[in-house]
This record gives sequence, structure tokens and C-alpha cells, in this order.
Amino acid sequence: MPVSPAVVTVTGAAGQIGYALLFRIASGQLLGPDTPVRLRMLEIPPAVKAAEGVAMELDDCAFPLLDGIDITDDATAAFDGVNVALLVGARPRTAGMERGDLLSANGGIFGPQGAAINAGAADDVRVLVVGNPANTNAFIAAAHAPDVPADRFTAMTRLDHNRALAQLRQRTGAAIDDIRRVTIWGNHSATQYPDLTQATIGGRSALGVVDDQAWVRDTFIPTVAKRGAAIIEARGASSAASAANAAVDHVHTWVHGTPEGDWTSAGVVSRGEYGVPEGLVSSFPVTASGGAFTVVPDLELDEFSRARIDASVAELVEEREAVRALGLV
Ligand code: NAD
Ligand code: LMR
Repeated sequence: MPVSPAVVTVTGAAGQIGYALLFRIASGQLLGPDTPVRLRMLEIPPAVKAAEGVAMELDDCAFPLLDGIDITDDATAAFDGVNVALLVGARPRTAGMERGDLLSANGGIFGPQGAAINAGAADDVRVLVVGNPANTNAFIAAAHAPDVPADRFTAMTRLDHNRALAQLRQRTGAAIDDIRRVTIWGNHSATQYPDLTQATIGGRSALGVVDDQAWVRDTFIPTVAKRGAAIIEARGASSAASAANAAVDHVHTWVHGTPEGDWTSAGVVSRGEYGVPEGLVSSFPVTASGGAFTVVPDLELDEFSRARIDASVAELVEEREAVRALGLV
């Protein structure tokens, strides 16, 4: 029996992440080889022509699973009937812009997009916010979608999670599939806490395998937390293919589940877990099963971990207060 296509909306579709993301979605890597996809590309008017060019290239791939492409500059049309919404398009920080200016510009994007999702999305909609500041943009979007269950709004920290796996592989020589239970806590920013205290490598404690606390504190944590800035410095542009890859991983895991005995990291709406104020979109260790993420319960946090999590969550609280003061939520 033919499966009806899933509607996948990508905002900022003509941007650099969009270019690395759309082809993987259309090839079936996001939702699997049995699910046809109808792509919706949302762009601002000046970038619609470029989006049309990307759509021509998508056509030219002759992807068997690609059911069709719609391009629009209208959020209501973009999110009508959407099953998976990837909110990538955001206003980048430019010279002289203060944090408040960035939050204000993005509130103007993610508030209306949250409202459009609320108005027209499919009942099973899942939303991933990639555009920065991703956690707070997801918080804003969720606040404008009161009829959509809060657990459908997520922010991307899978890139940070993957970066942590890669650093650990480089240090230990372990295979990626042997590394488990790494966690990114908090905000997708330099305050994030990449946590190895629960991690294992081939079933042994990762901290035991590494056996060098100074490396964990002074090299591993800052390298992962500042990797985005290091990529910008080296490439002259922010990460794009690795960000698109992480978005594919995030949604694939959300839909298909985490492997037995492992977990991943995602920014999800807090229900007060680990003392993170309810409603904030914070990264946690999460398992996925039956199409839903669940925060891993009852982990013991040592003093260092507690302090690092608190510091990143304090930044999320500040961002929430800033968008409240701007009247964005
Ligand atoms: P980009 O500038 O290349 O593309 C952004 C696109 O968004 C542009 O084409 C722009 O026209 C579009 N856009 C702007 N406002 C829009 C709106 N209201 N509706 C629809 N489209 C809109 O940027 P990029 O490199 O693709 O990055 C996109 C975002 O992802 C940035 O905010 C970046 O900081 C963020 N990012 C997040 C992560 C993460 O791990 N969470 C990683 C990398 C990048
Ligand atoms: C990244 O983590 O690569 C990006 O979020 C960096 C950035 O500031 O765009």
C-alpha cells in the first residue's frame, strides 16, 4: 500500500545549512527509505529565487522518494499540514549587534512561525530549531503554539553531542559506536556542559579510559563548547554540513529511537528535571522511543557537573528574561 508523503518544511532553505540538508531529506535519510517526502521551502522574498535554484537541483537528482516541492515566503502556507518542521532560517549576528538586538530580530521570526505551526501543523508535528540562539528561539516558538504539546518543540544540540563523540574518538582511538552515554547539558552556546561522567567506551568508564582529568576539563570541554567559533575562524563561515548532518541525526533518532543502552542529547522543554526551571528549552540526556524523547532520569551529578549545568541554565534564564522584557513571549 502506498505510504502518504510526510510534509517536511525547511526554513532558511536557500542558506548554507539548507543546501546541505535538503538533499539528504529528499534522499530518505531523515525519515527512512519507506517514507516519501513533500518538501516545503520557506524563505524571505529576496532569497526565493535562490530557493528556486536549489529546487531545480533537487529535481535534477530524480530522488524516488521526493513527492514534490513547494517554495513560499509565507509562513502560514509553509507550515500547513507540516509533519516535520526544521527551523533553520534565522537572522545572523552582524557587527555591532548586541545580544538584545539578536534576540529581538529572532523573536520577530520565531514568534510568527510558532503561531503558524499552531494554526496549521499536522497533529503529529515535530519541530527542530537550528537557527541561533536555538534554545531560546525554540522557547519563543513554543510559547506561540499553545495547542501543540510542548514536547514537540526541540532545539539542536546534536551537533555538540557529535563533536564530543569525535573528540573522544580522537583522544582514545575508540570506534564511535563503542562510545555511549555522552551528554550535552544546557544551552547551545559556549556555556554548554559536555559531560563524560556517565560515558562509557566499550563498556568501561570513559573517564577511566581517558585517565586524565586535566584533559577533560581544560581541553575536551572547551574544545567541544567552542567548536562553532573555531569552525567560523577556520572556514570563514559557520558550520553547515555538520549542522545539517546533526539535524538529520536528531530527527532520525526522534522518529526511529535510540539504541538500547545509549542516549543522545537534545534541547527539550524542561519539566523541571535536574532543577532546570520548567518551560526552558535546555539540553539534557534523552532517550527516544515510540516517536518521543524522554529525559534520562535519576543521574547522579557531582559538584563540578552541578556547577557547570547551573551556569549554562543561568544563561538560558537570562535569555528568557531578555525576550520577556522585549515582549516577545
Ligand atoms: P545562512 O545565512 O546561510 O542562511 C540562513 C537563511 O535563512 C538565509 O537564506 C535567509 O534568507 C533565511 N532567512 C532569514 N530569515 C528568515 C525567515 N524569517 N524565514 C525564512 N528564512 C529566513 O545561515 P546558515 O549557515 O544556514 O545558518 C542558519 C542558522 O543556523 C544560523 O542562525 C546559525 O547560527 C545556526 N546554526 C545552528 C547550529 C546548531 O548547532 N544549533 C549550528 C550551525 C548553525
Ligand atoms: C555552531 O555551533 O557551529 C554554530 O552554532 C556556531 C554559530 O555561532 O553559528
